Amino acid sequence: MTAISHSTPTTAERPIISVRDLRVLFRTPGGKDPIRAVDGVDFDVQPGETLGIIGESGSGKTSLGRALVSLITPDSGQILHDGLDPTTLRGARFRAHRRDYQIIFQDPSAALDPRMTVLDSVAEPLAIVRAADDAARRREALAMLARVGLPRDLAERYPHQLSGGQKQRVNIARALMLRPKVIVCDEVVAALDVSLRGEILNLFADLQRAFGLTYIFITHDIAVVSHISDRIAVIYLGKLMELGAADAVMGEPLHPYTQALLSAEPLALPAALRPKRRIMLEGEVPNPAAPPSGCRFRTRCPVARPRCASEAPLWREVTPGHSVACHFAEVAGRPQRDAILSTSMQK
Ligand SMILES: Nc1ncnc2c1ncn2[C@@H]1O[C@H](COP(=O)(O)OP(=O)(O)OP(=O)(O)O)[C@@H](O)[C@H]1O
Ligand code: SF4
Ligand SMILES: [Mg+2]
Repeated sequence: MTAISHSTPTTAERPIISVRDLRVLFRTPGGKDPIRAVDGVDFDVQPGETLGIIGESGSGKTSLGRALVSLITPDSGQILHDGLDPTTLRGARFRAHRRDYQIIFQDPSAALDPRMTVLDSVAEPLAIVRAADDAARRREALAMLARVGLPRDLAERYPHQLSGGQKQRVNIARALMLRPKVIVCDEVVAALDVSLRGEILNLFADLQRAFGLTYIFITHDIAVVSHISDRIAVIYLGKLMELGAADAVMGEPLHPYTQALLSAEPLALPAALRPKRRIMLEGEVPNPAAPPSGCRFRTRCPVARPRCASEAPLWREVTPGHSVACHFAEVAGRPQRDAILSTSMQK
């Protein structure tokens, strides 16, 4: 994959998404405590940027992404869309608002109706909102198919007659038909052959420039997140561990969890950013219905100290634009990390 040049957005603009103390809980039959899928998360997304969200399976990425586009109602906290709280909207106003905030999922087949042709699938969002007449909708759909790089003769095919990459292009075209402002991309290249991923990521970047889109790019793949993101957020057991500019998070990760994630896949990073040694994460991800006391990463943290069990680390900005939740972020940062890991740590 060739690296995409990152355009760092100005912070002076009003965030297009603003998240404050967000919680998404799931109650399961027989479960004593709810699953804390998203458990107190704060961040802003600026117009035109790509925010990558990375974390292991079950860390809450999809739950967060679905809440961001109003597919899940949060249990508490707030999400503002361009300053507006979508939960205050009803009926037609809510539906109209939701068009601006779309989501594309991992499985390109699941989102497409197997009985509809590609052209009908792509034109359908306009039909649902009764925009334009049938002929105009078809014209727009054909233009969008061309825009996402699909040849004209695919328009009359059915989903089972397409490759995975072609299906994902159809999904992208469909999501763009209502001219959204924000697209949450949830593992959108994970189901694709590795050789195709760079191509589809480049298409996303190209469409972002053409349509002025803002992306939330959810993935567990370090190569993908480093390729496409302006900023990166790292999530563990429903909480943000670190958030900062992509180069800073990849090059000088402050949180031991980020360091461990990056060290597990050194070849995913450009040579200059590759960690020198592997940090092994011990143990399983704890039960999200009963996360550990204090710092929820402490049961797997290679540099945990007694304080980590009794006191939850504050979410704090350590350098401008680079926030972290670790009591010892300053000493756990990359330059000192190797020394720390070879030293027995006491408070
Ligand atoms: N509908 C649901 N009902 C109950 N629990 C759920 C539901 N959806 C998600 N969860 C739980 O919430 C937690 C977060 O799940 P989520 O799907 O958000 O994680 P994820 O980071 O997207 O994982 P993956 O990388 O595997 O897609 C997990 O413990 C999951 O089992
Ligand atoms: S607060 Fe403690 S347990 Fe948590 S990441 Fe930092 S050092 Fe590790
Ligand atoms: Mg997921």
